[in-house]
Amino acid sequence: MGASLTTEEAKGASIIAKGMNEYFRMHAESINNPERFWGNVARELITWSSDFETVQHGSLDKGNISWFLGGKLNACVNCVDRHALKNPEKYAIIHETDDGDDPRSLTYIELLAQVSKVSWVLKDLGVRKGDVVSIYMPMIPEALVAILACARIGAVHSVIFAGFSSGSIKDRVVDSKSKIILTSDISCRGGKAIGLKKIVDEALADIDDLKTLVFKAGNPNISWTEGRDYWWHEEVEKWPAYCPAEPMDSEDPLFLLYTSGSTGKPKGILHTTGGYLVGAASTGKYVFDIHDHDRYFCCGDVGWITGHTYVVYAPLLLGISTVVFEGTPTFPTHSRYWEIIDKHRVTHFYVAPTALRLLKRAGSSPSSFKMEHLRVLGSVGEPIAPNIWKWYDEEVGKSRCHVVDTYWQTETGSHVITPLAGVTPTKPGAACLPFFGIDAAIVDPVTGQDIPEPNVDGVLVFKSPWPSMARTILGDHRRFHETYLSAYKGYYFTGDSASRDEDGYFWIRGRVDDVINVSGHRLTTAEIEASLIAHPAVAESAVVGVADEITGQAVVAFVSLKKQANTALGDASLSNDLKLHIRKSIGPFATPKSIYVVADLPKTRSGKIIRRILRKVTMGEADQLGDVSTLSDPSVVDAIIKVVEHKQ
Ligand code: PRX
Repeated sequence: MGASLTTEEAKGASIIAKGMNEYFRMHAESINNPERFWGNVARELITWSSDFETVQHGSLDKGNISWFLGGKLNACVNCVDRHALKNPEKYAIIHETDDGDDPRSLTYIELLAQVSKVSWVLKDLGVRKGDVVSIYMPMIPEALVAILACARIGAVHSVIFAGFSSGSIKDRVVDSKSKIILTSDISCRGGKAIGLKKIVDEALADIDDLKTLVFKAGNPNISWTEGRDYWWHEEVEKWPAYCPAEPMDSEDPLFLLYTSGSTGKPKGILHTTGGYLVGAASTGKYVFDIHDHDRYFCCGDVGWITGHTYVVYAPLLLGISTVVFEGTPTFPTHSRYWEIIDKHRVTHFYVAPTALRLLKRAGSSPSSFKMEHLRVLGSVGEPIAPNIWKWYDEEVGKSRCHVVDTYWQTETGSHVITPLAGVTPTKPGAACLPFFGIDAAIVDPVTGQDIPEPNVDGVLVFKSPWPSMARTILGDHRRFHETYLSAYKGYYFTGDSASRDEDGYFWIRGRVDDVINVSGHRLTTAEIEASLIAHPAVAESAVVGVADEITGQAVVAFVSLKKQANTALGDASLSNDLKLHIRKSIGPFATPKSIYVVADLPKTRSGKIIRRILRKVTMGEADQLGDVSTLSDPSVVDAIIKVVEHKQ
């Protein structure tokens, strides 16, 4: 149980006791001698059933990266068994339900039993090593049990965020050739029940041979297909509380996680076992400064990478207690997070700035809560503005916690640019310095030339491979290479622009591609455009991301209609219909803030849509459009300005 720390004790609690000099020494070693550095870290933090022979092989240029070759290990053994042996009665998962009643928290020994039982069930239902298992579950302990059971038997988990629609589920289970999908009858959030099984039923309507295993969370009337659907509680009863774990090669796949791609088709990012676990454990140890008795609360959902690495893997690899919260920050009140932190004596809190902005604006008052055990506050997913950083530091952290603004991506697996809690002096709004193994550089976006000087802007790249980087896109290694490793040859391209200041600190500015970040959810213009075009009335569409006070960015869509489209509905109803269409085809979080129905879109003579113009018009900067004479029909722009101004 974490005792409360004074500021001085908290600062002194850091793992790198020697401070920044030690950080610089370790960082230099991780780049200059990765074999020695990562070999040591991997042996210290991870239990291998056979030791590895080669620490690192391959290059970014060739795109054939591998780590810890020859090593054998099991991710679930590392997260569960070794702690169940040492501290069987310690909480592994602290469950907080939507309404705060009836939690199903699990100690390490209970987690081992549940994971083992589900492992047997999966095997019994035909899952074998290397098969893909989809998981479409709410933030409940069983979601973690499902993930760990897959890892235990060597199956590849593919978690699908429970806010995705049936169409998105279908795309993902088909692309990954999943054998089974694990879900629950309902999900409870913000006092409302959402029928997850019903959405899965729709997704599977015309897919054969895919089974479901359904956790019973409520008692609704759900439809049931005999021979396809299995109840979780009935199946686990049949099996013993221990299932042997499958020894895996370091480079065997651990999981797939679909993320938005520039073509509109989501890409299955593949992470492998050894390197990913080393990244998760080492960032947990050094960035969050995790100690044995810490209680860690990451608000990310298991459907996104933050949930994978920092709800599940990092805390469990380090044998601490992870809080799994099913609900929302605003139900029943805007104090829900602070109550949870006090109730469970949380030491680490990790959240996206969008939630902080929402709470601050709603007048939430963390200052009325003691939160005396809090030591580290993390931020993730989008840039955090200095005023929000300060509110977080002063109101939530009472100016005695370490604030870490962690920059990373689905593809990086774990933190890449970040302060180390208790070590790195921070600046509000900066992600600070590269983590170990990250050889970060700013390059000129056009020439690709390295810009080593201080006070520069450019594109953020990494010059050498690190253990937890994604290895490929499922079924499309060429696309992986083209997207990440070819734009700036020999370097990993993050897709973000950044500046580096006079102290070498990195400030992340945002995406240079068509990724939009809405409340920390990653979307691309292309996937929303593809969805809009699938609507029978839409001829063409263009989507832009615009700044939004609460969600960071918001989606704004422009559509032109087919000649024969039935416009009797009127533009307002049509735009509602289109919003509904996107909710159904992608998910509610992708719903545009505004949809403008226009006569035509601004295009070059070769037919390319100029989104820059749309962005400016949306942001009320129509007077700064620059030269529009190269458009095939410049008069289109005035018509668009009228539509937007009329609606605003
Ligand atoms: O643009 C960066 C932004 O989120 C993108 C990655 O999104 P995703 O793969 O969904 O992972 C989100 C959680 C790790 C990045 O390319 N991003 C992430 N963290 C930060 C950030 N932007 C600024 N500051 C951050 N700390």
